[in-house]
Amino acid sequence: MKINLLKPDVKFGETFILFSYQSNAVQTTGRSSKKSTASQVLLNHPEAETHLATFVEKKAITGRALEVVTFRGLGFEGAENIAVIGLGKESELNHELFRKAAACALDALKSLQSDEGSVWFENVIENQDQAPKFIQAFTEGLQLASYEFDELKSKKSEAKEKSFHLVTKYASDADVKKSFQHGVILSETVNFSRRLGDMPGNLMTPTILAQEAQKAARGISQLKVTVWDKARIKKERMGGLLGVSTGSTQEPRFIIMEYKGGPKSQKPLCYVGKGLTFDCGGISIKPSAAMEEMKYDMCGGANVIGTMLAIAKLKLKVNVIGLIPSTENLAGPSATKPGDVHTARNGKTFEVNNTDAEGRLILSDALSYATELKPQMIVDAATLTGAMVISLGNLYTGYFTRNNEMKLKIEGAAEESGELVWHMPLHDEHVKDMKGTYADLSNISSGKGAGSSTAAAFLEQFVGEGIPWAHFDIAGTGWAVGGRLNYCSKKGASGVMIRTFVEIAKSFE
Ligand code: BES
Ligand code: ZN
Ligand code: ZN
Repeated sequence: MKINLLKPDVKFGETFILFSYQSNAVQTTGRSSKKSTASQVLLNHPEAETHLATFVEKKAITGRALEVVTFRGLGFEGAENIAVIGLGKESELNHELFRKAAACALDALKSLQSDEGSVWFENVIENQDQAPKFIQAFTEGLQLASYEFDELKSKKSEAKEKSFHLVTKYASDADVKKSFQHGVILSETVNFSRRLGDMPGNLMTPTILAQEAQKAARGISQLKVTVWDKARIKKERMGGLLGVSTGSTQEPRFIIMEYKGGPKSQKPLCYVGKGLTFDCGGISIKPSAAMEEMKYDMCGGANVIGTMLAIAKLKLKVNVIGLIPSTENLAGPSATKPGDVHTARNGKTFEVNNTDAEGRLILSDALSYATELKPQMIVDAATLTGAMVISLGNLYTGYFTRNNEMKLKIEGAAEESGELVWHMPLHDEHVKDMKGTYADLSNISSGKGAGSSTAAAFLEQFVGEGIPWAHFDIAGTGWAVGGRLNYCSKKGASGVMIRTFVEIAKSFE
């Protein structure tokens, strides 16, 4: 997809795209000249508004949020077609709405079988302050909505590349240009991570995942990728990662991505992602229904790779390290058995009472290693528990932190990114539930319920005292977010939290 910024003094492309909205302007009605606040449907281009007045009168255009009305061959100032995208109440405009409106604009172009659209932003961006945010959101929405995963089909889609011109008088403002570029980079990296997630287990093994990270980082300045193989993982005493990997013939990998954008002396930010390229549950095998979805069990890792790429491409002035422990969880003859005890890198021992609770085991080593790096903070992302899907479904990502400053940063970052997050409980009682009988810890809770909190409590045992840490359980939001977001495919990986993680990094600049 090609997207560019243009000033309003240009000729429109093949399809002219404008917005309708409901204004709450005070109107004077009737002879009594009483004032009413009935909403009025407005279009953001005066001549187009006159041109389409009958459609507004007939209520074919209502201004409802995300309404798409298309006119083929109607003609307007050189454009062949017109598409009107509804924005809802004028007073409720926000950047997330522009992401969704962008997906509508792409839909409109598709249904008009048109390849070029000019989107008219005059009169909806009220002031210069809104312009960067709205333009960035629209750009992200367009690119995220255009993502398709068809590389494994023998017949690829033959559709021509679409091109969009975003028309605004602020087109040459430095901060608008910068935000536009941010939108491009963010959505490209999100789409990159979505592809990693969508690839099936046989084509996205730990070895391939590591190679993809290396390939993608090539040529990006200040970004270095190091990959540890099985021998090195053993040498580094990563008993959790190693223990999970023994059930498979695929070798595990430990991926380290380092970005140096800040002063040498500045402590790094650490992102950790679960890179389980296929989880059959191991000896505690999962039921076969929907087991194929467990190719997505590396989405935490994929999204941390995406976060690192985005941070480096955006040249943020921070030092950041991304850690991705990666393995398969299979049930081969050497697989970890229920009751087996392994030792994590920080010396803590754990009984594996359910081999399907493997994410926390591979993360234990990564969090221990992150702790050794003395970071300013550690944030991890993992498709960790089915319990999270039950608690929050596919709308909100649940996060756990006992650090109030982290909580504030996360809430602020999510506000900026438009992604929905929910703070979940983590209590000393949850920690008690994870005590082992024969080893320090058990990998499953001795208590009932709260499976996501007890999993978080397990992870906490590997984070150094005093290091601000937050854990994001993306089991419900990592893929198949359904019809929740029109710019994200119903099935398939979502790339969730990359945008929020980048915002978190920005808050440390
Ligand atoms: N990868 C799964 C969690 C998962 C399940 C993510 C469904 C998305 C959808 C994880 O490794 C797992 O199997 N966890 C177990 C833990 C349990 C045995 C304590 C679970 O949640 O059932
Ligand atoms: Zn599992
Ligand atoms: Zn898993």
